[in-house]
Amino acid sequence: MATNERRTAAAVSRTPEAEGALKELFISEMKDIYWAELHLVKALPKMVDSATAIELKHVINNHLTQTKNHVIRLERAFESIGEKAEAVKCEAMAGLLKEAEQLVDETKKGTEVRDVAIISAAQKVEHYEIATYGTLKSIAATLGFTDAETIFSATLEEEKGADAMLSLVAENCINEGALLE
Ligand SMILES: [Fe+2]
Repeated sequence: MATNERRTAAAVSRTPEAEGALKELFISEMKDIYWAELHLVKALPKMVDSATAIELKHVINNHLTQTKNHVIRLERAFESIGEKAEAVKCEAMAGLLKEAEQLVDETKKGTEVRDVAIISAAQKVEHYEIATYGTLKSIAATLGFTDAETIFSATLEEEKGADAMLSLVAENCINEGALLE
C-alpha cells in the first residue's frame, strides 16, 4: 500500500478520542522542548566559554543564535494551535546539561580533550532535539497543523545542521589534537 493510502486509512479510522490524545501528547512534547530550548539559551554561552578551539566556539555561538530563534518559533507554534506557550521541566535535557557541566569539570581547561567532551555533550543535546522535532513535525502533519509543521521542519533542519557542524569540527581538528596532548 502506498504511504498516502496508508495515511488516509489511518485518518479515517482515527476516533475523536484518539485525535484528542495525540494533540495532548503534541502539546506536552512542545512544553518539554520549550523548557529545553529556554535552558539551552543559558547553557550554550557557558559551553562557548569552556571551549578552546575557535571553530568550536564559533559553531556553538552560531547555534546559540539559532536556539534563541527556536524559542520564538515555539511561541509561534503554540499560538498557531491556540495554546499558551508554557515550559514544563524536561528531565532529559536537565540531565544532559548536568552531564555537560560534569564533563567540563572533569577535564582540564585549555585542552582539546575538554573540547572533545564539549562536542560529545553538545551532540547528545542535538540528538535529543532532533528526535523531538522529528516527532513534533510528524504529529503536526497528522493533525493538520500546517503552520506548526512548517515551523518544526525548519528547526529540525537547523538542529541537524548543528549536529553535522559539530561532527565536522571533531573530525577535522579536535580528535587528532586530543591524541597529541
Ligand atoms: Fe534548538
